Amino acid sequence: MTKDPIDKLLDDAQSGKSLFQNREVLHYSFIPNIILHREDEQKKVTQSLLPLLKKSRPSNLLVYGKPGVGKTLVVKKVLDKIQERVKDNSFPIHLLYANSKEETTLYGLLVKLGGQLGLKGKQLPSTGLSISEVFNRIIAKIEEDELNTVFVVDEIDFLAELISKSGKDILYSLTRANERLKKGTLTLIGISNDLTFKERLDPRVLSSMSEEEIVFTNYTVEQIKEILEERIKVAFIPNSVEAAALNLCSAMSGQEHGDARRAIDLLRVAGEMAEREQSDTVKEDHIRRASLKMEEDKETTALNSYPLHEKLLILAVMKAGGNTTGEIYQSYKNLCKITRQKELTQRRITQMLSEIEMTGLITGKIIHQGMHGRTKKFNLTLNADTVKKAFKEDLTLEDLV
Ligand SMILES: Nc1ncnc2c1ncn2[C@@H]1O[C@H](COP(=O)(O)OP(=O)(O)OP(=O)(O)O)[C@@H](O)[C@H]1O
Ligand SMILES: [Mg+2]
Repeated sequence: MTKDPIDKLLDDAQSGKSLFQNREVLHYSFIPNIILHREDEQKKVTQSLLPLLKKSRPSNLLVYGKPGVGKTLVVKKVLDKIQERVKDNSFPIHLLYANSKEETTLYGLLVKLGGQLGLKGKQLPSTGLSISEVFNRIIAKIEEDELNTVFVVDEIDFLAELISKSGKDILYSLTRANERLKKGTLTLIGISNDLTFKERLDPRVLSSMSEEEIVFTNYTVEQIKEILEERIKVAFIPNSVEAAALNLCSAMSGQEHGDARRAIDLLRVAGEMAEREQSDTVKEDHIRRASLKMEEDKETTALNSYPLHEKLLILAVMKAGGNTTGEIYQSYKNLCKITRQKELTQRRITQMLSEIEMTGLITGKIIHQGMHGRTKKFNLTLNADTVKKAFKEDLTLEDLV
């Protein structure tokens, strides 16, 4: 008799060994005790904030570098250390942190910072005021209580996208707030992984925001490897990650990106895969397959985030691959009929094709046809199975794929 499939999985999970001894340390929010290869950066960030301890105002600071190079980690650790020192200080220092990516509006971001200064409820309602009024109230609070504040705005490039015209002035005001304050101080620390962010800033804002700058470089393959080794010691039971797997994981995330986050994610996914398969160790092959899976998951998420007609169009390209816009349009219309959707115009679909082409999901190639002029032919860049699997979750498309 074959075992019930649910029982089998549950039995395996209960009796099988786990490869992990502390899975949480592979989560992105975990703050490791040891920060390797960022000594200089830790020193520089600390140094720039030292004036706080001497009761004067630090310069504004702009921290930048590619994703996953330890910017947030280092800045948070320095803040924690300073906060610990000044806990029972008579000189009030307030270190505030907000991530622009987690806020949908500039208003939300300011309210989040204001909240950490103790502005609550009526003092700083979560809607209804103008941005400049919110800002004025924060400034007033700093003056009233003579606070020395540091605002850390992480992923500040997203802030630039959140702000409208009036918001631009706020960014300017924020960087120059100190000149307005009669009492208390405000220092701004901006963190960004968008290296073009600086070019997009108003020069006035840039010059006051980056009174000081610290650039984080990418990690080398060797450095990534050492960071992973430290993490493996805490996350896995001893000897459960093979040397070849560690090397491959470091090489895959190091060579291209120098990104520690990617390396840790890859290791976690490979570890879970190995555990599910009841392997005694994480092997090279798990890393390889984990990398493919992560790539595929990213594609699936991208596919699922498209609205219905974009999805229909992607399916049309899949079915009428290597065809011209006209032929793809026919295929799209056909799919609309089957799914009982009202079709969009050919003009709109042509426009949509170029939009999707920009994301790299499909590619268009100009074909010269002699005296008939030229035409563009489109193809899917993804595996058709990935598309089918992703769209199966959409009830309207379920029967099509
Ligand atoms: N030197 C290091 N030692 C140990 N872990 C590290 C180190 N650098 C980065 N990490 C880990 O890598 C991940 C990414 O680091 P972090 O969040 O600081 O990157 P970031 O530079 O802020 O990237 P992003 O610009 O994408 O926000 C985190 O899980 C962090 O714990
Ligand atoms: Mg970060």
